Amino acid sequence: MAYFIGIDSSTTATKALLMDEEGKVLGVASSEYSYETPQPLWSEQDPSLWWRGTLESIREVLKKTSADSTQVKGIGLTGQMHGLVLLDEKGDVLRPAILWNDQRTGPQCDAIRLKLGRERLIQITGNNALTGFTAPKILWVQEHEPEIWERTRHILLPKDYVRYKLTGKFGMDKADGAGTILFDLAKRDWSAEVLSALDIPAAYLPPTGEGTDVTGELTEAAAQQLGLPAGIPVFGGGGDQAASAVGTGAVRAGVVSISLGTSGVVFATTDSPSIEPEGRLHAFCHSVPGKWHLMGVMLSAAGSLRWHRDTFAANTDYDTLLAPAANIPAGSDGLFFLPYLTGERTPHPDPLARGAFIGLTVRHWLAHLTRSVLEGVSFGLRDSFELMKNAGLKNVTQVRVTGGGARSPLWRQILADVLQAEIVTVNTTEGAAYGAALLAATGAGVFQSVESACDATIQIIGSTAPGKNLETYNKLYPLYRELYPALKPTFDATEV
Ligand code: XUL
Repeated sequence: MAYFIGIDSSTTATKALLMDEEGKVLGVASSEYSYETPQPLWSEQDPSLWWRGTLESIREVLKKTSADSTQVKGIGLTGQMHGLVLLDEKGDVLRPAILWNDQRTGPQCDAIRLKLGRERLIQITGNNALTGFTAPKILWVQEHEPEIWERTRHILLPKDYVRYKLTGKFGMDKADGAGTILFDLAKRDWSAEVLSALDIPAAYLPPTGEGTDVTGELTEAAAQQLGLPAGIPVFGGGGDQAASAVGTGAVRAGVVSISLGTSGVVFATTDSPSIEPEGRLHAFCHSVPGKWHLMGVMLSAAGSLRWHRDTFAANTDYDTLLAPAANIPAGSDGLFFLPYLTGERTPHPDPLARGAFIGLTVRHWLAHLTRSVLEGVSFGLRDSFELMKNAGLKNVTQVRVTGGGARSPLWRQILADVLQAEIVTVNTTEGAAYGAALLAATGAGVFQSVESACDATIQIIGSTAPGKNLETYNKLYPLYRELYPALKPTFDATEV
């Protein structure tokens, strides 16, 4: 029996998943770490943590499954997107990586729009310049750390640093490549026009491949450290969102998925590089060869619920917290929650957006606040859903929901009512790491295509239809939409 490993280098841990050739997960191990905020709005991480995490988690998963390591036939990589990793000519790390959730680059985003023209930027890359993306981080280093830029010879993303340590080769997959916004979205490769406008030498960027392409083989040195045979092929894989879509079977046009993790992501596969005309949705390459995807990212989804629990009901488990909220009427008796606790990306690309409860009265108690958080996040996800329709995605009647928040039947019902769509759950729970392992197995020839890999391994196991509250939420949604513009002047004036 052949085995495949998926490695996910996320912001908080590196996870290794071992899967057999039938898609059965044999074991998962993870190695945790943290990230630094050396200044307000900054978010940085030492790339050596991902490598240490890879070593620890692979060794651990091999040990705990007692798998025959000579039967590992492929490794697939995934990880946090957009993080900037700079290496010198010897391949040594020059500074801590600047991560996806770093918000320092507002002025550099303006500069990119100015240099290329906003419309042209969206036309080529499919995206507007946002602080989360990689390109503005490069401009920040050019401007603020010229001595580092002077010594830079290689630009990578987090999982591609792991690729380099595993194979000694520089490479990147096309899903993550598009997330740099240095990509020509339609051509699925670096854009000479964007690189030249931003003074970034093309030679600093690695070759890119599809998620199922071989990008190198495990070196002797890495193999020895991992306890694996040298020469195992390492496949392209994908940024965590694209790989997670593979891991939950969102690989065909028309299937929309929502991940209710710390952040909330609305994801739709497309057969062509379609974009939202104003660039309010991210438009990236998929890790399914020859496909693209649209994505709306809300920064605090289940993260809002965690904040609410930690702040108002510390030490309460989620089931206990959520139970009384099911008895509160839809609309929480006039209470709204704005979920912008860490700023926002979609549909308001605004690091200064803030969270709020609006409409509090003495009649409201904890359960109202809880329900209102679930509703506010669901309305925020509807914003992305509406933009998808704006970008041409018609007749979406079914949405796959994954992530920690998807475990709540109450939240699934509210989502079904707010989105006016059937909400379904699937049998897989390991998201991106599982997707990376499926991409490796497909690349190794076990499955004919990523779609058939998903058909063979992923099944729908639960369904929630829209219910009696659909009309109530439909009436409340326009009121929710009015809150952010009304409060924006206050958010801007109270910058902290
Ligand atoms: C996607 C994004 C996040 C990170 C976090 O655009 O920024 O999902 O990849 O892991």
